[in-house]
Amino acid sequence: MSARNTDKSSRKSVFHALTRNFSKSKKEKLLAEVQEAGNLPRHIAIIMDGNGRWAKERGMPRIAGHNQGVKSVKEIVEACGELGIEALTLYAFSQENWKRPTWEVSALMKLLMRTISNEIDNLNSNNVRIKTIGHIELLPPETLKQVQTAINITKNNTGLILNLALSYSARIEILDAVKKISRNIIQNSINIEKIDEDFFSKNLDTWDLPDPDLVIRTSGEYRISNFLLWQIAYSEIYITDTYWPDFRKPQLYEAIRNYQKRERRFGKVSEQISIEKKHVKKSVRGNK
Ligand code: FPP
Repeated sequence: MSARNTDKSSRKSVFHALTRNFSKSKKEKLLAEVQEAGNLPRHIAIIMDGNGRWAKERGMPRIAGHNQGVKSVKEIVEACGELGIEALTLYAFSQENWKRPTWEVSALMKLLMRTISNEIDNLNSNNVRIKTIGHIELLPPETLKQVQTAINITKNNTGLILNLALSYSARIEILDAVKKISRNIIQNSINIEKIDEDFFSKNLDTWDLPDPDLVIRTSGEYRISNFLLWQIAYSEIYITDTYWPDFRKPQLYEAIRNYQKRERRFGKVSEQISIEKKHVKKSVRGNK
């Protein structure tokens, strides 16, 4: 399902993007609201979509959309660092993306390599730790080398974890975990009864990350596209019509504000959540 499947809606979307320039004061107000509300997501995961359409609507080649998308990546990483978000996962290249035309795959790999190389010093000085999920060994050797260098340089940093999903497929990640656990069972090193949700999570690529609290998808598509299928069981999902190249700090603040206003019930009823919140408040007051 797409929110943009007619010419009319596509024309409207360009107009929408052009008229959604946030004034400085609106941006500052949004940021203040986000900070005041307090309950920030620990982990934000983003399906960055719409680079191609952004370019097409402007009569530009697809790669121009990806280039512009890199500017959004930089701004969103910076915003997450400033807000004190623990982890940001970006779906940069899926396993399925290998099926794109060769020239586009090659351009994306070069762009990834160039962006990491240009940004690594800045990321490192801002205490960002880079990690990846997915089969990165399938990347071209020079891109892989750049990614590994970035992981290595930033491995002791303690700020934002920038987790890049590269050559990533959630189904393959789950199958990999099943194979790993099965091998352990065959070697008798684990008891089947010990396999609970926590145990399984610890065998996924995201073993050292909390599950995403907020999943954002840009460009108005209502799909999960094989992204973190296990980990997003209880994530809040936010879908915006904005194309990725237009998704900047104010749009992120709007997504977080939307998240902050939601009630996360994890299967319980609203009244239980209110009582739990009162208990937490009481115990915080009691500890003071
Ligand atoms: C989706 O838009 C975008 C991608 C598949 C690639 C995302 C890559 C970047 C933003 C640049 C490099 C990333 C990093 C982390 C440095 P699309 O091409 O599917 O757009 P469309 O659906 O409109 O065709």
